Amino acid sequence: MRDEGTKDMDIERAGIVGCGTMGAGIAEACARAGLDVRVVTSGAESVRRGRGRITASLDRAVVKQRLTGEERDRILGRIAFVTALDELADRQLVIESVTEDQQTKQVVFKELDRLVEAEDAVFASNTSAIPIVRLATATSRPENVIGLHFFHPVTVLPLVELVASLFTSDATRRTAEHFAEAQLGKQVVPSPDRAGFTVNALLIPYLLAAIRMVEAGHVTASSVDRAMTLGCNHPMGPLQLADLIGLDVVTSIANAMYHEYKEPQYAPPPLLLRMVEGGALGRKAGRGFHVHT
Ligand SMILES: NC(=O)c1ccc[n+]([C@@H]2O[C@H](COP(=O)([O-])OP(=O)(O)OC[C@H]3O[C@@H](n4cnc5c(N)ncnc54)[C@H](O)[C@@H]3O)[C@@H](O)[C@H]2O)c1
Repeated sequence: MRDEGTKDMDIERAGIVGCGTMGAGIAEACARAGLDVRVVTSGAESVRRGRGRITASLDRAVVKQRLTGEERDRILGRIAFVTALDELADRQLVIESVTEDQQTKQVVFKELDRLVEAEDAVFASNTSAIPIVRLATATSRPENVIGLHFFHPVTVLPLVELVASLFTSDATRRTAEHFAEAQLGKQVVPSPDRAGFTVNALLIPYLLAAIRMVEAGHVTASSVDRAMTLGCNHPMGPLQLADLIGLDVVTSIANAMYHEYKEPQYAPPPLLLRMVEGGALGRKAGRGFHVHT
């Protein structure tokens, strides 16, 4: 995939596994960059929802006059939705973005290893907190596995954390970096293969601290959010941000970091656990710390 000289080769065929909040955004970003994109979802209903997410996002861009109707149609035409991983056999890069659960992801990586034909195909994960080496060792080619951690909304936020594991080869790292920077136009920050990488290792304890303040009854969610937006010039408060990320996702990241570091600051507070158990998952469920219509 890469010349021995200095020129890095472009990825032309990308696969995305999972078409939830993040998978849909990554698929859209890849299609906007001109790639042939194949998205694997878990069934017909997920295809409908995933296509709906991407179409709604592109329609918003047309309304804001950032895309023409023809451009939207061309971008959508580059994305194929499928329901079986074997449809990714000819891909040069696959980005896994399924539910934040180590076992689920390991099964996906094991299958990709079996199915994807090109020896130098890159297997990337968009995991928020699971160390990449745990996914790499589910495959027979750990040197091809890397973390490409995008941020929500993918088409808006420029950062991608690039997480090489102990076993990631230099060729894989260069291909992934070139893909994110030169093809998607993102800015790459190398991050350590530790639970939470860089951003979540700092962000999650902050979100959990805000949830503990609300849980203790000192202050309301709205007051915390207003205080942080008005006092620190943050674009949104911590509970609005937790709702945007998804409270189930926040909990999974917190659990992964608690498991890794055994420090109380990473333990999800009971209020967060009860909200997730009750289905109040934030913006995607219409209800979290705030009501979303
Ligand atoms: N939400 C965020 O802000 C954010 C940011 C960066 C990274 N992430 C990470 O991205 C990943 C996905 O998160 P999300 O927010 O999109 O979650 P989500 O719940 O919106 O989507 C996950 C999707 O994966 C699908 N899925 C589960 N198992 C599958 C399988 N075997 N094959 C195909 N599809 C499968 C589910 O049906 C669901 O549609 C997680 O690892 C998460 O930690 C999330």
